[in-house]
Amino acid sequence: MTQTNPPQVDVDQLRLAVGDIYRGVAEQPDAEYHFHTGQAALDHLGYPRSLTEPLPRSAADAFAGVAYVFEPGLPDTGQRVIDIGSGAGADALMAARAVGGDGAVIGVDMNEQMLARARAAADEARLDHLDFRQGLIEQLPVDDEWADVVISNGVLNLVPDKLTAYRELHRVTRPGGRLQISDICVEQEVPEEAKRDIDLWGA
Ligand SMILES: C[S@@+](CC[C@H](N)C(=O)[O-])C[C@H]1O[C@@H](n2cnc3c(N)ncnc32)[C@H](O)[C@@H]1O
Repeated sequence: MTQTNPPQVDVDQLRLAVGDIYRGVAEQPDAEYHFHTGQAALDHLGYPRSLTEPLPRSAADAFAGVAYVFEPGLPDTGQRVIDIGSGAGADALMAARAVGGDGAVIGVDMNEQMLARARAAADEARLDHLDFRQGLIEQLPVDDEWADVVISNGVLNLVPDKLTAYRELHRVTRPGGRLQISDICVEQEVPEEAKRDIDLWGA
């Protein structure tokens, strides 16, 4: 693998800008954004209604993922799953139903407003084996080799230091475990100047 240096963007400023966007989504999910949100996005991306209808509205309304992350399959009963950048918790809730009470799911997000929605949804759905933790993808608050499956939906594109992020994903996944990642990719080299432009990261 070719190792490239992380872009010289101001990471603290970028996190503040990303935090502003997703605080907005958590507080006003019906406002206009440059991406699809909520039930309309879940339908548009192909999530089956059998998975989305049982979701508490607080989670479904602020969904902001970019694809149907369980398209390759749902986790099995009894498995341990981490949702990296879990947002309002829709995918984590679906995973928690799939693994059942013998499994466990941890959602990690840096955004308090998103975490509040996700925790309220987990309480409403009475899913005691679903835990939402505040933290950074670059420093996950999860033990080594804890997960059978790691999912992430629309998040890694927001992280400048992708090598550190992927090292963390590797650290928390057990040998033989799997990653299911939905994200936005560009197929052309992005100029350094563009990488430093914080407005473009959230655009
Ligand atoms: C596009 S939203 C997707 C949320 C969720 N996966 C979904 O499908 O609805 C991106 C989420 O990633 C979180 N996030 C972005 N950068 C992060 C970082 N470095 N560490 C932790 N969370 C981060 C944001 O707070 C936001 O909730």
